Amino acid sequence: MSVIKNDLKRPVRFTKPDRSKEHSMSEIKNDLLLKALRKEKVERPPVWMMRQAGRYLPDYIKLRDKYDFFTRVQTPELAADITLKPFHQIGVDAAIIFSDILVIPQAMGVEVLMEEGKGPSLPKSIKTQKDIDALNTNNVDEYLKYVFDALSLTKKELNGAVPLIGFAGAPWTIFCYMIEGKGSKTWDNAKQFAYTETELAHQLLQKITTITIDYLKAQTKAGADCVQVFDSWAGSLSPEDFKIFAQPYLLQIANAVKDFAPVILFPKGTWYALEDLSKSSASAIGIDWAVSPKQARALTNNNITLQGNFDPAKLLAPIPQIKKWVKEMIDDFGTQNYIANLGHGITPNVPVEHAKAFVEAVKEYQNQDLQN
Ligand code: CP3
Repeated sequence: MSVIKNDLKRPVRFTKPDRSKEHSMSEIKNDLLLKALRKEKVERPPVWMMRQAGRYLPDYIKLRDKYDFFTRVQTPELAADITLKPFHQIGVDAAIIFSDILVIPQAMGVEVLMEEGKGPSLPKSIKTQKDIDALNTNNVDEYLKYVFDALSLTKKELNGAVPLIGFAGAPWTIFCYMIEGKGSKTWDNAKQFAYTETELAHQLLQKITTITIDYLKAQTKAGADCVQVFDSWAGSLSPEDFKIFAQPYLLQIANAVKDFAPVILFPKGTWYALEDLSKSSASAIGIDWAVSPKQARALTNNNITLQGNFDPAKLLAPIPQIKKWVKEMIDDFGTQNYIANLGHGITPNVPVEHAKAFVEAVKEYQNQDLQN
């Protein structure tokens, strides 16, 4: 197993994309996703898959043998190429930029390692006031220039075919990695820090929020048509603690970014917050499979576009079964104010044909009220 070290000072090879003709007036041919985010009428729901750009795609796995993870992320040509693969191969209605949520700790000055097959680790986890004071929140333009260049290049290559999604990790989820120093099932250390060093926890969450807002705004300037905030570990908190340590920062981000592009919030495992979040300035809320489509519609009073919530493990079932489940999911959500997606990222063991079947099933969906 090789340990891949990220070094921000390492020169990264890329050519400078031409930002002069920036996307401002460019038209998008398949704009189903943007229509759904604006709650406009669509002929069918748009479909994309969280984590669609890597992992399970054989062409991606080939690239993995040639370039280490952060080379893939930091080289705009590679990132753009990986981003476009699921659009070409699976037929999704949107591209999501190939990157990682952990580029934010890197931009803040924290070393992040990616161990192939094992996941991320941050050898110097945050422990003290001094550690927090040392974190950078400025010059995201400079530190994460490779992301913006990758977005501009992808946008150019897409040539308006489908929208391009930018993203960032939510403050709570980034906090989890920065305190814990690696992935965890329970996030015990992160929670201990939040509950015992509460003042420091809020300082850190605020610093992450501040840089994330700049980062997402800059992504929209570089070509992202909408952005998603992944709060993958929000469900590790109780409903009360989600309101203290996660929700306020999500709302801050949605408020600050909404005038630049539509915002999708994905706080996994927090069905209880749906009512509150439906009143936020987000354009959509992503949900996982722990809440049924009908319950989610009821909790949000039909007020907001919902995204989700197919259990990615169901993509391992036979194709006819996948198609039947997708139809039932759309029946339950309804075709409007809805973005078909998984309830969390696609897993590496999903056969490409099954991912395709998921997308096809959404595209084939016929609904009586759309024909009238
Ligand atoms: O569609 C896409 O995949 C776009 C790119 C993308 C990656 N990470 C690339 C990646 C996105 C949107 C992410 C988000 C991300 N990264 C999240 C939030 C979404 C989620 O799944 O909850 C989280 C928690 C991370 C942190 C992270 N990065 C982990 C836990 C791991 C290891 C496990 C794994 O395989 O995902 C990564 C590495 C990573 N990020 C890979 C990819 C394609 C796999 C490593 C590799 O391919 O070499």
